[in-house]
Amino acid sequence: MNRKQEILQRLSRSGDFVSGQELCEELHISRTAVWKNIQKLKEEGYPIEAVTNKGYRLLSVENADIFTQDQVMRRLGTEWAGRPLLFREETGSTNDDIFALAAQGYPHGTLVVAARQTAGKGRRGRTWISPPDGNIYMSILLKPDLRPDVTPMLTVVMALSVYQATVDLVSDDVRFGIKWPNDIVVSVDGGSYRKVCGILTEMRMEDSEISAITIGIGLNVNQTRFDPEIAENATSYRLATGRSINRAALTARIWNRFEENYRLFTQTQDFSQLRPAYEEGLVNRGRAVHVLDPRQPFTGTALGIGDRGELLVRSDADGSVVHVSSGEVSVRGVRGYV
Ligand code: BTN
Repeated sequence: MNRKQEILQRLSRSGDFVSGQELCEELHISRTAVWKNIQKLKEEGYPIEAVTNKGYRLLSVENADIFTQDQVMRRLGTEWAGRPLLFREETGSTNDDIFALAAQGYPHGTLVVAARQTAGKGRRGRTWISPPDGNIYMSILLKPDLRPDVTPMLTVVMALSVYQATVDLVSDDVRFGIKWPNDIVVSVDGGSYRKVCGILTEMRMEDSEISAITIGIGLNVNQTRFDPEIAENATSYRLATGRSINRAALTARIWNRFEENYRLFTQTQDFSQLRPAYEEGLVNRGRAVHVLDPRQPFTGTALGIGDRGELLVRSDADGSVVHVSSGEVSVRGVRGYV
């Protein structure tokens, strides 16, 4: 047990104020060391009250946003997803970390979770701005025994898992959903949608075989300010719900859900068993969409998804149902982002 944990244990056993002097004497450390460790605990999200002449008191931790390896592990109910879990306060990109770990022989299911990234990557070569403002940045290592043509569907399996974990955890008076194929969005001002989560899947090949896949997820959880260039389409769980979200609980639920969805997906190597759950969250369903296909853009109405995770769109031009695959094609709402 390190100093922080010792202090935490002492405060939680007491349930009341413990003076700085008592902590110094019991742990054989200086007053400055007590103070520094208390500051670190507060930065990690522990609600510690400090009152002159009384000392320190730990308030209820049930709903506090304490984002540490321990807090995630206690809630993880998986067999392989997130085992092992490597927790980093700061890293370049968790996707890059996963490929480095894969090269060292880490197993299927290895998870890297970070509280901040300095070189976060988004889709289409964009940057994923990753400030240390209460968000989650994480990537999993998969070494699946799947046909290469089905691996792009893993991103869709992940989107479903994030959506389900969100609905499990966040009260349903705020409407979260999936914008096909894999953005998690939330309804703001009762109408338009903004993005709270992005997913980036990358693959490494060796001798034309898949050697490693990583699915990286960036979630805007408790962030309250956004740069002007992304503020129009992005928001956070906290801004949308008006309350702070426990990141450890959200992280664990995502992997609990993912492990089960992955099992169902790999049984058939298609989306047949997951389609009803995905369509429940699909915000494009029934809405007018622009399909931004560089070869042939068109407009239509989104109907749902097919067994390969493709979006089914009834074309305005001739009423035919077009199967739109992700990849180079993206979809926008006719009047906005969704
Ligand atoms: C997108 O552009 O929508 C995808 C963003 C994916 C960001 C996550 S954050 C964790 C992981 N590490 C990265 O460098 N990117 C992904």
